[in-house]
Amino acid sequence: SNPTLLILPGDGIGPEVMGQVTRVIDWFGEKRGLAFDVEEDLVGGAAYDAHGTPLHDDTMAKALEADAVLLGAVGGPKYDDLDFSVKPERGLLRLRKEMDLFSNLRPAQCFDALADFSSLKKDIVAGLDIMIVRELTSGVYFGEPRGIFEEGNERVGINTQRYTESEIDRVARSAFELARRRNNKVCSMEKANVMESGILWREVVQKVHDEDYPDVELSHMYADNGAMQLVRAPKQFDVILTDNLFGDILSDCAAMLTGSLGMLPSASLGAPNAEGRPKALYEPVHGSAPDITGQGKANPIACILSFAMALRYSFDQGDEATRLEQAVEKVLADGARTADLMGPEDGTPISTSEMGDAILAALDAS
Ligand code: NAI
Ligand code: MG
Repeated sequence: SNPTLLILPGDGIGPEVMGQVTRVIDWFGEKRGLAFDVEEDLVGGAAYDAHGTPLHDDTMAKALEADAVLLGAVGGPKYDDLDFSVKPERGLLRLRKEMDLFSNLRPAQCFDALADFSSLKKDIVAGLDIMIVRELTSGVYFGEPRGIFEEGNERVGINTQRYTESEIDRVARSAFELARRRNNKVCSMEKANVMESGILWREVVQKVHDEDYPDVELSHMYADNGAMQLVRAPKQFDVILTDNLFGDILSDCAAMLTGSLGMLPSASLGAPNAEGRPKALYEPVHGSAPDITGQGKANPIACILSFAMALRYSFDQGDEATRLEQAVEKVLADGARTADLMGPEDGTPISTSEMGDAILAALDAS
């Protein structure tokens, strides 16, 4: 039977960009014999409108069954005043939690045609292709104790950075596996100089490396220096492995090396199933963009590149993923630009569906 793909377009521009991904998926089925059993369902505000919950139990069950989940975006002003328990983002958080997606992959790739768009000098970013692996389910955002407590005559806000050996071990493995598919190089970032969790992090990462991945080149760096190096000379890195908090900051920093939010894909991976496929959720980094919803302005590339990641990491179709990435690269090199990829004096942008047309034409020519 065909591999299964659950598509959750969500809210705002989510359905608009996903519409172009669906065309790309169909193309791979028709032209490359890569057929998926695709099912579509609701998440976020769209699910709340239909069911009074941002993620129906049936949808959750389908996500746990599917070989991969592809999500557009959730949220929007219409839902801002809802109770926290039914806010659109709770749908996404529930997916991440119940699928136990502990490894968040955020590529920072600079397409040559967009190098001028970076916040940095062109020669620092041209040809950049790095991947940040961020631990996503533990660390300071989850550790106990947490809260705001009375202490003497004032209050104290407390969060706890906490990592178990097994939590470090599993995300380290996912980074080393990834490195083997890329350039065999991992830089692990923590602050072992001032944090106990950092000392343990460094020790466990080194042990996993020495025992099972000695062929991968491993280095360690303090995360503050890492932030500096990312901006100074990002091309020195290939895979960067880091915890939840540092990964949050470093991946946003790396994202801006490459230009628009409309270009950035991501993957969140969990434990491998019986067939060795990790549980997986693919989604663009951007949100539902209410300011441009319904205007045909959204750039579908982040969502399309998220599907390319699914081809590579869930379906072992690395060559087809590269085919799709090269089609995107080609249309950019040919000058195709949605509004987010141009300045006010750069001419007329193309629409969401015209970008889809261009990418399909480039695929046809590949
Ligand atoms: P956003 O990412 O939706 O938008 C930020 C800016 O980038 C906007 O000006 C938007 O027009 C632009 N932009 C984003 N994606 C684009 C694309 N594909 N093409 C062209 N331009 C694009 O972030 P914002 O405005 O902070 O949040 C809007 C809503 O999205 C909120 O309800 C927020 O909670 C939600 N959100 C959802 C996320 C998710 O589903 N994973 C992630 C971030 C925000
Ligand atoms: Mg962030």
